[in-house]
Amino acid sequence: MGRESDTQDVLGASMTPSHPMEPGAEPMSAAQLTAAVIRRLDATPDPRLREVMTSLIRHLHGFVTDVHLNGDEWLAAIRFLTATGQISDDRRQEFILLSDTLGVSMLVDVLAEPSSAGAAGFATESTVLGPFYAAGSPEREYGASIVERPSGELAAYTGRVTDTDGNPIADATLDVWQNADDMLYAVQNPDAPPDNLRGVFRTRPDGSFAFLGVRPTDYPIPDDGPVGGLLARTGRHPWRPAHIHVIVSAPGYQSVATHIFDAGSKYLTSDAVFAVKASLVRTFERHEPGTEPVPDGVPPGEAWYSLTHEFRLSPARVHGASQ
Ligand code: BEZ
Ligand code: FE
Repeated sequence: MGRESDTQDVLGASMTPSHPMEPGAEPMSAAQLTAAVIRRLDATPDPRLREVMTSLIRHLHGFVTDVHLNGDEWLAAIRFLTATGQISDDRRQEFILLSDTLGVSMLVDVLAEPSSAGAAGFATESTVLGPFYAAGSPEREYGASIVERPSGELAAYTGRVTDTDGNPIADATLDVWQNADDMLYAVQNPDAPPDNLRGVFRTRPDGSFAFLGVRPTDYPIPDDGPVGGLLARTGRHPWRPAHIHVIVSAPGYQSVATHIFDAGSKYLTSDAVFAVKASLVRTFERHEPGTEPVPDGVPPGEAWYSLTHEFRLSPARVHGASQ
């Protein structure tokens, strides 16, 4: 068998024998090398690690073979990964950004076990957490504002948390965070009050929640590092469609980290991190000043927006159950 057909086989299940250690033997083929590396994993005691590593080697070698990667390109890739590590620290995780922009974070999300539907429908879909979540947001009262300094057009968020049958869930928590109209989250902006546009709310006995925030605005993911460079070189923009983040949790239910996306954003179909799910897109309603009673915190004479949303939670998985 010639080298050509060996390399075509690189992703296939059957591999050619390893390279014989004899003087005068034919040059090693790509498929022989791949097979040798995979065989070296045979003694991995953890079966899941063996499965993952075997598939990784098969696909990685398949990719390198497929594009016929040369030495300069290999070195460029090593330099890119080195820079990705070097720019990462406690506050910036460029590898997660790389995973996000390559769609891997959302692939993991999509492959996660789907939740079952109840009488009221499916549980609220999850999406990326993103790097700007910070635990420890202040607990705020029902209806309170998360806007600690002017941050955009005010928006009143109301709704309910229910189970998948539509029954209200009392005392559920909503951990919310959003960016300001300067496109920054409080954790990114040393000039902003640290708790601006963040808060933890609890639902009332009827499952209802309410808070005042701002209408979301589009913003770019951090693009001044290697990931931004890669986006530019592949003709991609760094923008995310306007959204607000919410983690909804309640005892006895599966927590969900999700977004509400603004239907008015022009980036819904080109999110830099592929995180838009149709079920999470909502239309904000605009209210002109003086036309109706305003929510607490909206100054008279100012237009404002409203959004009503229902979050549905699945029951917690029973440990050891087959479904
Ligand atoms: C975010 O929505 O905060 C986000 C998600 C992924 C990458 C960058 C930002
Ligand atoms: Fe975000």
